[in-house]
Amino acid sequence: MSDTVDLVINGGTIVSPDSRYSASIAIKDGLIHAIGAPEAMPPARQTLDASGLYILPGAIDVHVHFRDPGYPQKEDFASGTAAAAFGGVTTVFDMPNTLPTIDTPEALADKHTIASSKAYVDYGLYAVLGEDSIEHVPGLIEGGIIGFKLYMGNTFGRIPSPTTGAMLEAFEVVAPTGKRISLHAETNSIMERRESRLRASGRTEAIAHLDARPAVVAVEAVARAAILAEWTGARIHVLHISSAAELRPLAEAKARGVDITGETCPHYLLLSEHDYETFGGVIRVNPPVREATNRQPLWDALMDGTVDVIATDHAPHAPEEKTRPDIWTVDCGFPGVETQMPLMLTEVNRGRATLEDYVRWSAENPAKIWGLYPRKGTLTVGSDADIAIVDINREWTIDDAKIQSRSKISPWQGRKATALPIHTLVRGRFVMKDRVLQEDARGSGRSVHAIQQMPPATPRNTDTTMAAITSRSER
Ligand code: DOR
Ligand code: ZN
Repeated sequence: MSDTVDLVINGGTIVSPDSRYSASIAIKDGLIHAIGAPEAMPPARQTLDASGLYILPGAIDVHVHFRDPGYPQKEDFASGTAAAAFGGVTTVFDMPNTLPTIDTPEALADKHTIASSKAYVDYGLYAVLGEDSIEHVPGLIEGGIIGFKLYMGNTFGRIPSPTTGAMLEAFEVVAPTGKRISLHAETNSIMERRESRLRASGRTEAIAHLDARPAVVAVEAVARAAILAEWTGARIHVLHISSAAELRPLAEAKARGVDITGETCPHYLLLSEHDYETFGGVIRVNPPVREATNRQPLWDALMDGTVDVIATDHAPHAPEEKTRPDIWTVDCGFPGVETQMPLMLTEVNRGRATLEDYVRWSAENPAKIWGLYPRKGTLTVGSDADIAIVDINREWTIDDAKIQSRSKISPWQGRKATALPIHTLVRGRFVMKDRVLQEDARGSGRSVHAIQQMPPATPRNTDTTMAAITSRSER
């Protein structure tokens, strides 16, 4: 029959950013074909009973590090995207601090080859915007990226942070392209100076990492980046907001009309300085987990829209790289792509936010900010059938040994959760079903750059850009 669909999901409760309702979903050719009463569904080749479960748009995690190529002992594109599938995440944006660094069209092309052969879920690739890659901006966009990543501060991979002069020029070059620049907003000179003094003073315990990077490190960076974005008209996204103090320059820039968005991560919402003693170097991450007083303001900022997105900064490392006694030699970061949805929905169950709020932060807003909406980030007729089917009444305990990521060490070890993704579909295809990885889906993930449609660019002060002044012969 020509109107037979591939799959009908019955019995679940569909969650959108403004409501939840019981309905069936019909999927055909990877798209949502119909939503409605069970009796109104067309005939289907396959059906799924989702009674008692919630049906969410798959999460879009705009900040993961899958380490491929370069560090297979930490993660690769297959293990990282398998972890995503188990976490109800249907699209990831992968960071460019791999080996080699993704800052040339050649390195980008190689990474596309790797990702397309291994990915279980859809993905976007970031390219570095640095002092030496400004000239490659057109070639990198041509090669297919979701956006640029600019490291204002040093972290894993030691990608040099550009000077403010180079940053201004980079923003001038990217502004007319309409691409968004995601910022690691920590000012290098402040934290390097403090770290070297701390090392010289002999401090090696875990919480010395927080002392090296007080919130002003991030506040100064966010404020400076916002000024350059306002001047050039470049779009920016502030990654991993960790402190209450950063919210002010972010909110003020939004009020001035700067195209700036923000993200925070579960570890800044749920952990605090008290966890350093328990977890030691395992909790070392950039920016650091901070004083407990930062947490409620971050929740409030999500609620009022100052912070737009929940992402994870999934940063896998091997156990021996996380457990060295001297904190300065411990690799920064830990896995998160697989536990974000369970952890956040556990907070929803506690009444901290609604399911609708969660869907806005994890799916709708990321899709809108990076020009993927409404193909992604929503469950509506005509959208990609990217779906997380979740049990929000399931008590379980996070066990690092059992996660898909190769990085079997995190500060989530032993934490109780009350929600669990049961099935994950990407463009209508099961990638995880009944908590089992669908091995035949390996290599079915696709780069989303091809469907990205950013709004028209709005470059500003174009008469004073580096390109304008150097091509001018006289004045
Ligand atoms: O802790 C971190 N680890 N922060 C980052 O920004 C990078 C990441 C990594 O790549 O390990
Ligand atoms: Zn990161």
